Amino acid sequence: MAIRHFLQFKDFSRQDFEHLFRRTHWIKDRFKRYERYWPLEDRTLVMIFEKQSTRTRLSFEAGMHQLGGAAIFLSTRDSQLGRGEPVEDAAEVISRMCDIVMIRSFEQDIVERFAAHSRVPVINGLTNEYHPCQILADIYTFIEHRGDVAGRTVAWIGDSNNVCNTWLQAAEVFDFNVHVSTPPGYEVEPERAGLYGTDHYEEFADPHDAVRGADLVTTDVWTSMGFEAENEERRRDFEHWQVDPEMMKLAGPDALFMHCLPAHRGEEVASEVIDGSQSVVWDEAENRLHTQKALMEYLLLGRVEEKP
Ligand code: CP
Ligand code: NVA
Repeated sequence: MAIRHFLQFKDFSRQDFEHLFRRTHWIKDRFKRYERYWPLEDRTLVMIFEKQSTRTRLSFEAGMHQLGGAAIFLSTRDSQLGRGEPVEDAAEVISRMCDIVMIRSFEQDIVERFAAHSRVPVINGLTNEYHPCQILADIYTFIEHRGDVAGRTVAWIGDSNNVCNTWLQAAEVFDFNVHVSTPPGYEVEPERAGLYGTDHYEEFADPHDAVRGADLVTTDVWTSMGFEAENEERRRDFEHWQVDPEMMKLAGPDALFMHCLPAHRGEEVASEVIDGSQSVVWDEAENRLHTQKALMEYLLLGRVEEKP
């Protein structure tokens, strides 16, 4: 079987995702019934973190254990990666000692170079440009609550960051629309977002216009990891881009609210919204576990169709 990687959302087709969602449903259901499912017994996942994490580390590590395998955590600080070992050399060595790799890093180029020298599948666990595992879980969560995402409208309020770019790629894969509202100077860069075109999103100067009629309102921190030096400036620039109850009212009572977490209440989102009845953030976080278990199964075993 040819090795496949999941480095950005568009690496997978709609059919791939539909398969992953079917498997996620099955794996999640079985897990909830405490039924053992160990298809990855004796397989090892290596997780390389150049940035901090709670959800990504925990969901991959717990997920691999639950599938019968083992997970090893490497951070830049404690490995030779932090002392300048070339990423290509690290990929050659690490991929001879394990079956699958997840990397959280800075530039997308780093994970692309790692994958080019890897003998095993590589998963992007977040880069400056993309966060494909997050949107995999987000779309699964949307489907659980509201059904098919095709033809829907997602409102993205705030920074055009890695999570936003990945929503935009997902819109092209699933054929939905994204209403984006960023402060001036923080607009979407279609090339950096890795888009085929501009047909699946529309930019709005006023976030209140962006949320009107949306099926889902979502946002993220104003300052992403690696951009901390811009924190003060961003706090001023994003002041009017908080998702608050007034904005949710414009979206309508059926609109869901999502946030990849961690969140800053009182900055990008008001407490009343993230802790309110339209918010599905805890389901969204939990689904990182189930969707990534399906992802690892797929990358290592291909299309498991039969119920074992
Ligand atoms: N959403 C997300 O990736 O969270 P962590 O940074 O905690 O992994
Ligand atoms: N955009 C955020 C997401 C954190 C999960 C960051 O990159 O820091």
